[in-house]
Amino acid sequence: MPVKKVIPILDQVRESLRSAAAHRRRTGRPFVTLSYAQSLDGSIADRPGRPLALSGPQAMALTHGLRASHAAILVGIGTVLADNPRLNVRLVEGPDPQPVVVDSRLRFPPYANLLKNSRSPLIATNTGADAERRQALEAAGARVLVLPGNNGWVDLPDLLKHLGSMSINSLMVEGGAQIITSFLASRLVDQVVLTIAPLLVGGLRVVNHLGPSSRRRFPRLTHLSYQQLGDDLVLRGEPDWDG
Ligand SMILES: NC(=O)c1ccc[n+]([C@@H]2O[C@H](COP(=O)([O-])OP(=O)(O)OC[C@H]3O[C@@H](n4cnc5c(N)ncnc54)[C@H](OP(=O)(O)O)[C@@H]3O)[C@@H](O)[C@H]2O)c1
Repeated sequence: MPVKKVIPILDQVRESLRSAAAHRRRTGRPFVTLSYAQSLDGSIADRPGRPLALSGPQAMALTHGLRASHAAILVGIGTVLADNPRLNVRLVEGPDPQPVVVDSRLRFPPYANLLKNSRSPLIATNTGADAERRQALEAAGARVLVLPGNNGWVDLPDLLKHLGSMSINSLMVEGGAQIITSFLASRLVDQVVLTIAPLLVGGLRVVNHLGPSSRRRFPRLTHLSYQQLGDDLVLRGEPDWDG
């Protein structure tokens, strides 16, 4: 029996992104990679608002490789407030992606590390957001994108359409729990790169609903591959929404 060649997950992701421009032209939105780390019990953090380092150094380097491979990277305001991330590329060589923050009430803080980056963050908010906060953030170097909103939250399909119109071909979504849930519930994910760290946390569950259970099908990942990086298991797959 022929031995199947093991292709590193980063190479597989880069290969998938070769068609990202065509994907954007076809759909009007960027190709979306959802990437995060969880514990064995599906926790993304100890509790909301608290950072927890889950990935080992090799999986962290993969995350930076993924960042360098995407045109933009997106997190929710909860992650900015909890982790104060830079979202840039430091552990490998490569370009920084455009940071995008989903923040319907403009809670983005003036001390955020994202304001110290080479690329100024794009903050997506709603029409009802406070005008003074908006001006202060723009004066601090952020770009604020005002969208109509959906039930008080940022309308993700609308935001992605806007990113598509900015010629952003690929978007990496890094978290946190509510953003991951919203992207999955809206079926806006084209591939998943999941790091599973070998510990039990019993903390903030990463996916907490995927729509009404009567209509729901359980999306399954297809074209699966696995890679061990240090003590972590990294998995890549493509959601089959009708699974
Ligand atoms: N392990 C990992 O890989 C990883 C990665 C990232 C983060 N984290 C952890 O995750 C935690 C943060 O997660 P979180 O769930 O609290 O916050 P989050 O997902 O980062 O941000 C959620 C917030 O974004 C805003 N938002 C606006 N539109 C939204 C939409 N359509 N869908 C979802 N959210 C929308 C809402 O705040 P407004 O109503 O104010 O707009 C919402 O509360 C932290 O503890 C962080 O350390 C872990």
